[in-house]
Amino acid sequence: RNPELEQLLQAYEWSAKLYHFLLKNTEHGKPAMDYLKSRGFTDRAIDTFQIGYAPARWDTLVQFLDKRSFDLGAMEKGGLLSSKHDGTGYVDRFRDRVIFPLHNRNGKVIAFAGRILGEGQPKYLNSPESRLFTKSRILYNLHQAKSEIRKTRQIVLFEGYGDVISAWEAGVHNGVATMGTALTDSHAAMMRGLADEAIVCYDGDQAGQAAALKSIPILETVGFTVKIAILTEGLDPDEFIQKYGAERFKLQVLDGAVSSVKFKLIYLKKNHILLEEAGKVAYIKDAMEVIAPLPSPTEREIYLKELAAELQVSFDSLKQECNEKRIAMQ
Ligand code: CTP
Ligand code: MN
Ligand code: MN
Ligand code: MN
Ligand code: MN
Repeated sequence: RNPELEQLLQAYEWSAKLYHFLLKNTEHGKPAMDYLKSRGFTDRAIDTFQIGYAPARWDTLVQFLDKRSFDLGAMEKGGLLSSKHDGTGYVDRFRDRVIFPLHNRNGKVIAFAGRILGEGQPKYLNSPESRLFTKSRILYNLHQAKSEIRKTRQIVLFEGYGDVISAWEAGVHNGVATMGTALTDSHAAMMRGLADEAIVCYDGDQAGQAAALKSIPILETVGFTVKIAILTEGLDPDEFIQKYGAERFKLQVLDGAVSSVKFKLIYLKKNHILLEEAGKVAYIKDAMEVIAPLPSPTEREIYLKELAAELQVSFDSLKQECNEKRIAMQ
């Protein structure tokens, strides 16, 4: 094994422990603890996810790592420290932030995400990509969720750390998140190794719903059955759970997740005014793009029937529309 990599892993592990300790047991950590409590994070969640706090000082980690004879240059390359502008030494990269350790699938800490307390930019500061940390290959919480994912053959995909953590507290132990980046083919392949069904549970805002739409082909290409959970009022899963509670989240949002076809239809519908004839016609045209390519005749029939009832048009005319589309597609 590579000794430089071993050193960095050791530094991340010890730094995570230090930050967790500072959050829980020191006066410095109090504002961060208050912030987490105000958001509804429990002590159990703080322990389970090893959440910590990086104090508002320039040298917490510099001192800590230097005393333990770590090579500070290597620590800078690994994303724990930053170089001083004048090149005379190092300062901490994470200051006055809540620290969410990111683990690889074996449970080793390989990066940090640091959240500002309250408002401000950037909201999250991450470790830079390194030999340990490749955003396109890391899923937050996979190390803790993988056994439940394997057991249920189902994985729930979130956007953010807070979503995974609140869902975990709600009893959903098969949740993971991408880290602000788009879902990649390698994420999907990793997930598919453990599960057959993916529930995409992204934020209820426009960006989240657009990202959910984009995730569908990526997940279906690797053979997932995809469902999409729909959040109301533009809430994210964490906000929904804080507002409405765990039971309603599980029953309404997760159990109510819709098929990918249904989600596409709901998504397209928002662009049209169905009270107007022209709007109905335009929506039907969009809907056919989704329904006509479905390989199963019964599946097409199910969606066409729903559409007919919803728009108060005949099933026969929709079916004819669909058949014409299929011929045009050949
Ligand atoms: N993200 C990031 N950097 C940012 C904003 C977001 O890395 N400046 C990533 C984080 O992984 C975040 C995810 O994108 O968890 C989803 O973004 P967003 O919905 O904006 O954040 P939340 O997770 O809802 O953050 P919070 O609840 O702490 O406000
Ligand atoms: Mn602990
Ligand atoms: Mn979001
Ligand atoms: Mn969010
Ligand atoms: Mn949030």
